[in-house]
Parts: sequence; C-alpha cells; structure tokens
Amino acid sequence: MDKKDFLRVADYTKRDMLDVLDLASRIKARQKKGDPFQPLTGKTLGLIFQKSSTRTRVSFEVGMYQLGGYPLFLSANDLQLKRGETIGDTAQTLSRMLDAIMLRTFAHSEIEELARYATVPVINGLTDDHHPCQIMADLLTVLEHKKKLKGLTVTWVGDGNNVLNSWIEAAPMLGINLRMAVPKGYAPDKEILKYGVDLARKEGTEMLLTNDPVEGVKKSDVIYTDVWVSMGQDAEKEKKLRDFRDFQINETLVKHANRDYLFMHCLPAHRGEEVSAGVIDGPNSIVFDEAENRLHAQKAILVMHLLRGKKINV
Ligand code: CP
Ligand code: NVA
Repeated sequence: MDKKDFLRVADYTKRDMLDVLDLASRIKARQKKGDPFQPLTGKTLGLIFQKSSTRTRVSFEVGMYQLGGYPLFLSANDLQLKRGETIGDTAQTLSRMLDAIMLRTFAHSEIEELARYATVPVINGLTDDHHPCQIMADLLTVLEHKKKLKGLTVTWVGDGNNVLNSWIEAAPMLGINLRMAVPKGYAPDKEILKYGVDLARKEGTEMLLTNDPVEGVKKSDVIYTDVWVSMGQDAEKEKKLRDFRDFQINETLVKHANRDYLFMHCLPAHRGEEVSAGVIDGPNSIVFDEAENRLHAQKAILVMHLLRGKKINV
C-alpha cells in the first residue's frame, strides 16, 4: 500500500482491504502466540479526540505500544485548537514531531483539512460521516466466524449514520450483499448511497434500502445495528427514540434471519433501545470479538500507513 491517509473506506482498493485484513490476521496470530511484532519501534502516534471514546482510544494506544511505538493522547480540550489555532497550523506543527495522527471529530471536512496540511499519515477514528477503522475490524470478525466474505448478506437495522456509510463503501468491494432497514427520513447520505449502489451494480452485489426490518433481515447472515442517537445528536434524542421504536433487534425480529446469523454492534450499546438484552447477550452475538478486533485491525492499518512503500514481514 502506498496511501498516506485513511479517511474513509473508499480511500482503499479491494487489494488494500484484503492486504489489511491479511496483515491483521497475521499480527493477531503472532500476538496470541506471545511473539512480539514491533516494526514501529521509535515511531509516535498522536490521538486527537473531539468526542468520547472507549474502544478507539484504548485500541490505538495499546496497539501502538504493542507495535513498539509511542501513542500520545491529545485531548481536544487541552490543545490550542480549542482556543482558535487553525487545523492547518496544528497539522503542520504535529507533522514536525509525530509519525502519524489519528483524529476523532465532528465534520468530516475537518479531517480532510487536517490530512491536506499534514505531511504524516492521518487516520480517521470516526467523523459524523465515516468510521472506516470500525469496518476493517468488522470485516475481520465476519471473516473469522464465516471463513469468507464474498456472497454473504449483511443487514443493517437502524440509523443511516457514519458506521453504515462506511459499510456502504466496503460491502460491494468485497462481494457482500448489503441490506439497510431504516425508518423513513433516516436514509444514509445520498452521495455515499449513490457511490455504493453504483459499485454494487459494477460488482454484481445486492444493495437494498427498505423501511421494513423484517424484509431486511430475511435470510441474512449478519445483523448489525448501532445506537439510535449518535454523539452530537442529543438534541434529537426524544424524536429519534420515537421514530426508531419499530427498529429494535429482538428475539422476534431475528427469527426471520438465518439460524446461524451473527449479531454485530460497533458498541457502545443501549440494551432495550436498538437491541434487546436477549440478542446482544445471546449465543449469536459476537460483539466482543468485534470490539477486540479493533486492536488487531488497527495495528495492521498503522503498519500499512506508517511503513508505506516498505516491505512488511510478519
Ligand atoms: N466503536 C467505537 O468506536 O467505540 P468507541 O466510541 O468506544 O471508540
Ligand atoms: N454512530 C455512533 C458510533 C459510535 C462508535 C456515533 O457516532 O456516536
């Protein structure tokens, strides 16, 4: 891979996606054997968080440490960015001291601006529009459980949000059929949807948008959901809780899926809202394998971008 940044799934080709997944599996296997793999010794990663995080922060910090490097958590509240320093000046300054920057923020245009000014790799740890690192971990998890990706049907039930946008960009590239069951008025971003539909047509995969969760989950291999109220949307909470009432993944809905369906959720979850406790804590749920794989997938992403153009032996 020769890409500097990873801002959205569409930055990757199919080859890039497969290379990251393959590297992630090999790094994970080595880690499980207790055999250290430290190709990033002496490298530094800055982590800027404008929103809360449990998984993304811990997986990047621990991942960088395990790869031999040094992670710096940079709380947005303490940076001069908060007091009006420009994204451009921040990017140029940090590029003189760090080997890569991860940013979690609101508007996707902010990370695009950071990447434009930064001379070091910029990795998206979630924006309002995309969550690409999550999807690489999700794909690794599905691959481990189903032993393949091509030909599977993944159904998203819930909000047309950042995580779904990243799934839309990823699924057709890897031969995965994607069904989206969302309430009226909550369809994903129009341009991203068009990108996905065009790609699905080209790759010969299904991409279906429906307002009917039962139609969505029929014969599905994976059922995926996310919170109804994403970070930054608290003002819309009451309305969203009402509008999403019929979109809970529960024991009644999953009866329409394949018997061996997998339940996935990027987490954090709200039991009793988007998912019942019986489903998320039940035998088909793989949410904690999925959470663990954030660590392994991101280690592969870090190695790929920080050592771009170099031969990587694991
Ligand atoms: N899935 C995810 O990104 O979790 P955090 O918000 O805890 O990082
Ligand atoms: N859609 C959620 C994902 C959290 C990981 C949010 O943006 O809050």
